[in-house]
Amino acid sequence: MRRRDFLTWMGMGLAGASVSLTRCSTSSNETTKLAGNDASSFTPDLELALTASPSTVQILPGAATRIWSYSATVMKGPSETIERLSGSYLGPIIRVQTGQKVRVHFSNELPEATIVHWHGLHVPEAMDGHPRFAIANGQHYVYEFEVVNRAGTYWYHPHHHDRTGPQVYNGLAGLFLVSDPMEAALKLPSGAEEIICVLQDRTFDTNNQLVYQPDMPMASMSGFLGDRILVNGREQPSLSLATRAYRVRLLNGSNSRVYKLAWSDATPMTVIATDGGLLERPSKRPYLTLIPGERAEVILDLSGHATGTSLELRSLPFSSAPFEMGMGMGMMGRGGRMMGSMGRQASLANGAPFSILTIQVQRRESSTFELPATLSSFDTSWQPERIDQPARVLDVQFAMMRWLLNGRTFELDAVAPNEIVSLGSKEVWEFDNTGAAMMGMRLAHPLHLHGRQFRILRRQLDPSSAADWESLREGVTDDGWKDTVLVMPGERVQILTHFTRYPGMFLYHCHNLEHEDMGMMRNYRVAPPNG
Ligand code: C2O
Ligand code: CU
Ligand code: CU
Repeated sequence: MRRRDFLTWMGMGLAGASVSLTRCSTSSNETTKLAGNDASSFTPDLELALTASPSTVQILPGAATRIWSYSATVMKGPSETIERLSGSYLGPIIRVQTGQKVRVHFSNELPEATIVHWHGLHVPEAMDGHPRFAIANGQHYVYEFEVVNRAGTYWYHPHHHDRTGPQVYNGLAGLFLVSDPMEAALKLPSGAEEIICVLQDRTFDTNNQLVYQPDMPMASMSGFLGDRILVNGREQPSLSLATRAYRVRLLNGSNSRVYKLAWSDATPMTVIATDGGLLERPSKRPYLTLIPGERAEVILDLSGHATGTSLELRSLPFSSAPFEMGMGMGMMGRGGRMMGSMGRQASLANGAPFSILTIQVQRRESSTFELPATLSSFDTSWQPERIDQPARVLDVQFAMMRWLLNGRTFELDAVAPNEIVSLGSKEVWEFDNTGAAMMGMRLAHPLHLHGRQFRILRRQLDPSSAADWESLREGVTDDGWKDTVLVMPGERVQILTHFTRYPGMFLYHCHNLEHEDMGMMRNYRVAPPNG
């Protein structure tokens, strides 16, 4: 099976597109006013119609599974802009170039409100998919933004408050791939030599329907784990590849699960990119740690492999304690399946080992690809020495039966005084997860900032968490541009970011989607100087 069997060209929904197009024109003015844009000055290079709607897809043998899915059509621009993953609930891959202006006419055909967020992209406030912009069934939202990010693997998903977890779980997610001339010059493997791996875990009932029960106290406090691992919406796929190099784009699109990814034959994980694109140089690791929301790109060079051999992508065991609640630990079989209290479905524990996909090396092909020693250059204006002010400390806590950020739960429109930054400033933020743990409730959190990439400056870990950290450490990619960072229990993590370009209110939150939905999310405001 070649990659093109996985990914076939999109050829559906044309009738739907013209409907969305006409209906969109009514809401267009409203939305662009909101964005503070002059509608006439925005001439898109690419224009897409994107719809979220219920559908069904065959995932397991037997009954088809009811899912929610994004579909898209190109209204202006090359048809290759979107690439559908055939037989998958995932939304189409959207491919754009840095500098392009994109207009997306989004239609909500779901039975509830939703809004689309472009994870990792630097866009104006009204284009960021904040929950206050959620639209009801039958409504439209027009996005207009210029792609200013560097080349990288970004993604889009819903962001309605309280409902992000279930909406993503039902199937709403897709990749948004950006390329730029510097990346293109590297001639990285592409086309049939590019492998897409969106990793998600799901639980199905006996009739093949998705099961999502995060309302159990245990589940909502640790997050939801499924008992099957899906790659692009398929279980345990097998890829037939040739003896050459491949670029593998990985997204952890799971609600709560952490992966410790390794090749079964001890081939190193050659990481070339993280959330915000290419590293300065490739980084060889024994395994790759991928937290919810996080992306990475690796080069898999099969040129030294014999045809007829195979290898697996696996998740290795790691210490699961930082990902589980303190209560009811007796039910948790380390590295095994657990049966939770109150009838929760059996699920595969965080930290358990499992196989994800199989690669069969089947064709001999000569490959001339050589991985460059330098992939990108570091922008020295980002040097931490330039930062003189003290870090802005944001506490990560569990209190009043909730996960809190900065001592607070999510409020749709509120920004605390210490959540206001000035436009153009460079700041160090420190996520402090060392606070006193109530009932032993101190977990790891994948913390995410909207609207910008950052650098990770340092980690200070409490010795009591050293062993847990050690079980993931070598796979943690702190050396690139990031928008999502692992903060361990007992740890303070400092990041450096630059509040450029767009003023307004943006989110920062835990990307464990059950934590996010229970309020582990806050706004920060980028205020214009004197504004
Ligand atoms: Cu993928 Cu608010 O995040
Ligand atoms: Cu985001
Ligand atoms: Cu969290």
